[in-house]
Formats: sequence, structure tokens, C-alpha cells
Amino acid sequence: MAAASQLREPFETSAMFGDVIARAASYSPARVAETAIELLELRPDHAALELGCGSGRLLAQVTARVQRGFAAGIDPSPLMVRHARLRNRRWIERGLLDVAVGASDDLSRWPDRRFDRVYGMHVVYFWEAPERDLAEVRRVLAPGGRLLLGFCPAEQAGPSIGPDPARCSLAAAEEWLARAGFSAIEGRCDFDAERPLAWLRASR
Ligand SMILES: C[S@@+](CC[C@H](N)C(=O)[O-])C[C@H]1O[C@@H](n2cnc3c(N)ncnc32)[C@H](O)[C@@H]1O
Repeated sequence: MAAASQLREPFETSAMFGDVIARAASYSPARVAETAIELLELRPDHAALELGCGSGRLLAQVTARVQRGFAAGIDPSPLMVRHARLRNRRWIERGLLDVAVGASDDLSRWPDRRFDRVYGMHVVYFWEAPERDLAEVRRVLAPGGRLLLGFCPAEQAGPSIGPDPARCSLAAAEEWLARAGFSAIEGRCDFDAERPLAWLRASR
């Protein structure tokens, strides 16, 4: 029998992972999905990619809106990918959705300009070298395609239960996007039950 340590998936046991999951779970999924869908301005023929799709809840809602297009999700956690595939199996069986293990700094699974929309909720905290992730996002986005990121902004820290790596500065993220060559960069901060949530949208 395998030892418990061998059964563990190292990524999911990192302290950062737990912090971010707990933070993300504190927002209302319905409200987050509503805003994400609104900001994505999806059309039925769009191809959309979710970075860090987790258990695939938002991915299910996005896929339902691109029924003449294509949807994809990636997540480095095999556990999350299993959940996302199970939740979305009817779309996968129809060939409408692809969910894969992977990280946003290597989107080589897809060719250049494959997607009209790329989005990621609570994923930026994990970017060790954002320029690498953003170069890949830009490569897979079609000209005029749109990137949407949602995250907890460092600017509105509020009460904390300790050191808090699971936040990202909205101003810094805007700067990353500008340096990566994105245009029409729009950042804003919403409040959900007094919890701030930053939205950052840009075009390729
Ligand atoms: C807090 S969860 C959010 C999941 C989902 N986006 C949501 O809002 O419910 C963060 C997710 O990002 C994934 N992740 C971590 N590093 C990543 C990376 N470099 N690229 C893509 N996803 C990553 C994690 O495995 C995790 O599933």
C-alpha cells in the first residue's frame, strides 16, 4: 500500500493553496459568476479559456453560453481537474469543453489566437513571473480578444487573520498587463458583503 505522503498531491497541500481556496470560498459564487459573465460579454460562437478553473463551477456557466463555440479550462491540481470534469461531463462528452491539468504559464496545448476570451478568478496570486503567464495568454488570444481577471485586491486589505499572501495589488496587475502589451485596460473594485473583489479587463 502507498504511504500517505505518496498519495498526497503536493500542490494542493501548500499553505498558499489553502489560503487562496478559503478566501475564494468566502465570496458569493452566484454574484461572482454574474459579474464575470457580464464583463466577459460572451457570444455563442466564442472560444473561452479559464485559467485555474478549480472545480469548474464558473466554467459550467461559461460553457453554457458558448454552445456554438468552444470552452476550455486548466488547473495544475489534478484533484480540481477531476472535479471540474465530473461537473461538466455532459459538455466534455459533446466535444464542447476541454479540461486539462496545466498552469497558465504554459498554454502550449492550444495554438496561437485560439480563444476570444481568457479569464481567471483568484489565480494571479500564484503567478511567480506574471510576464510569462501574460505572454502565454496574449499568444492564445485572438486579436481583439479579451482577458478578465478577478482577485482580492491588496489595496483594500481590511481585517486579516494573519500574514496574507492571497492578495494582489490592482495597480501592480494593471502595470503587468500594460507591460505585456494589452490595451483598453480597465480595473475596478467591487464589494461583496464588505469583501473587496478586484476586476481587471483588457484587450489583446
Ligand atoms: C482559489 S482557487 C479558484 C478556483 C476558481 N477559479 C474559483 O474561483 O472558484 C485557485 C485555483 O488556481 C489554481 N492555480 C494555481 N496556480 C495556478 C497557475 N499557475 N495557473 C493556473 N491555475 C493555477 C489552483 O489549483 C486553484 O484551483
